[in-house]
Amino acid sequence: MSSDPTPRPSSRPAPRPAPRRAPRRAWRRRRPALLAALAAGALAAVLLQPQTAADADEALPYQDPGLPVPQRVADLLGRMSLAEKIGQMTQAERVDVDADPSLITDNRLGSVLSGGGSVPAENTPTAWADMVDRYQQAALDTPLGIPLLYGVDSVHGHGNLLGATVFPHNIGLGATRDPALVERIGHITAEETRASGPQWVFAPCICVARDDRWGRTYESFGETPSLVTSMETAIDGLQGAPGQLDEPDRVLATAKHFAGDGLTAYDDSLADTGSYPIDQGIDRVTRAEFDRLALAPYVPAIKEHHVGSVMPSFSSTDFNGGDTDDAVKMHANADLLTTWLKQQQGFDGFVISDWRAIRQLPGTYADQVKTSVNAGVDMFMEPIQAPNNPTGWDEFIPTLTQLVDTDQVSMARIDDAVSRILTAKFELGLFEHPFTDRTHLAQIGSKAHHAVARQAAAESQVLLRNQRHTLPLRGNHDVYVAGSNADNIGNQTGGWTLTWQGGSTNVVPGTTILDGIERSARGAVTYSETAEKRIPRKADGIVVVGETPYAEGFGDVGGPQWAWDPADGGVPRQKQTMRLSDADTRAVQKVCAQAKSCTVVVVSGRPMVIPPALLRQIDALVASWLPGSEGAGVSDVLFGRRPFTGKLPVSWPRTVAQEPINVGDPGYDPLYRYGFGLRTR
Ligand code: GLC
Repeated sequence: MSSDPTPRPSSRPAPRPAPRRAPRRAWRRRRPALLAALAAGALAAVLLQPQTAADADEALPYQDPGLPVPQRVADLLGRMSLAEKIGQMTQAERVDVDADPSLITDNRLGSVLSGGGSVPAENTPTAWADMVDRYQQAALDTPLGIPLLYGVDSVHGHGNLLGATVFPHNIGLGATRDPALVERIGHITAEETRASGPQWVFAPCICVARDDRWGRTYESFGETPSLVTSMETAIDGLQGAPGQLDEPDRVLATAKHFAGDGLTAYDDSLADTGSYPIDQGIDRVTRAEFDRLALAPYVPAIKEHHVGSVMPSFSSTDFNGGDTDDAVKMHANADLLTTWLKQQQGFDGFVISDWRAIRQLPGTYADQVKTSVNAGVDMFMEPIQAPNNPTGWDEFIPTLTQLVDTDQVSMARIDDAVSRILTAKFELGLFEHPFTDRTHLAQIGSKAHHAVARQAAAESQVLLRNQRHTLPLRGNHDVYVAGSNADNIGNQTGGWTLTWQGGSTNVVPGTTILDGIERSARGAVTYSETAEKRIPRKADGIVVVGETPYAEGFGDVGGPQWAWDPADGGVPRQKQTMRLSDADTRAVQKVCAQAKSCTVVVVSGRPMVIPPALLRQIDALVASWLPGSEGAGVSDVLFGRRPFTGKLPVSWPRTVAQEPINVGDPGYDPLYRYGFGLRTR
């Protein structure tokens, strides 16, 4: 969870000249035995050598890019104090350090993140790169000069950055059934992210969304593990092939949220109480179902795509059924985080906790830190984000120190965590090239990138109904456009765009669906959001309806809502119901009653209920999902510039009461089946 903090002025850093880039390091599998042997050798070497870079007049082993990464890790580890090791395990939020980056230096912090919407005062690529480099300089101003990792939620492009190319959210990408396109999008996302500073993204979510009432359904590629797994090409796009992580157009990826974030059971008792009825809930499934639906996507993510980090879920598992006393939080689950993920699957990256997630564990804060570190979490996202919280990472550091000093957390566990983190930093080339390589800065938001966003928007459209071959619209008919989401780029980009929750008044470069229609139609185009204007009988009607933006539990059906959000200009937030608003329903009824034909386009993070009586009035129905910054891609298929090829990534229910509804369920009877989609050419 993250709020949208007041941005703070950032001053231009005075970065050191970037040293020569390291030769490509071959991607290698670390062996614990190798590491132990190297550590022993390194320890011997250290005893004979100066303790810090400042004391040596030539490169120390860990500073030598010609040495194997495990050897560099072992040498550096052998030089680190406990404070330096725990600092590497600690992640602050930028608001915590922006006014005083020396906090990074003094606390030996290993990482900083931008939560959703946490951006430099001037939200431009250069200001981002300057900000990250200013924090980087503070990290390098330490005796060992260990570079900083900066993480950000580039979940559909670098959505926090104004000017970045914003792609369809994952549910729309799942509808494309186009893994190569998803890899291309990952690569563009990596290029635009790294060129603006961050070297690490908290993406992709490889969640399997099973109940569409979940506010994070749109972050999922779909309801089946096979579809989700097929889209893990996103990781390849982000990280590149093994050995490319140190390149200026690649970033470290994160498979999240491990595991079963999309399997939680809806708790009716929490609906409309201000809590999250399903997000961060409990997976009430058998272990076999959990293996099939939650763990399965992580195997290829690790073994085939070599994902560099994993983020546990806020959710819990309860394989035994019954009351919630048996539920185990994922951040406390040693069986899954260490035994299954690290030992059995051989995951050799690092585990980053979710936003203050360890504070949901039972017991005191010391209990929470002890449990999560010993369960296998390696780095801790512990933002303070004053005035939201009284403490954060500043409490984590002394707490973990005390746990190690009293042998409640072993030094072996600390060394394992730190080795994993340092390995990522070496693989990213940060020791040789700590500051932002701005080679690709000018590519951010380029025409070429927007062309890919437009293609993705088009391929993500799913044609559900097409009576009388209404689509594609052709000829020089006049067009009448209505609906809440026809001309709203904030709504079509959704959450995680400029602000954490997204917003109807958020504006990013791109085209709305109406913009696209106006460029595609050859007849006159009339636009009236609520269909108040006269509707010409000979006009083709297009009504673009749907949801307003949300993120996480705020998108749960029956979830909490902000009365209004200052960061979004005080836009009132609507409760999410999976049902059309009254205004949209009236617009559909008016247009479908009077226009020559009527097409309804649903812009939403999940299926929405279309009542039978309304459906009968509709000629053509399109699932548009959250198409991103290029609404023109939607009009491309409406007017036949591109064919409809999309297929449902999730089952489309007849009613909300049918949820959860998934292909393979007994008595499966949705309005439109998983995988359904009409083609037009
Ligand atoms: C959020 C989300 C997670 C995100 C993190 C940092 O709470 O659960 O997906 O990466 O915080 O913004």
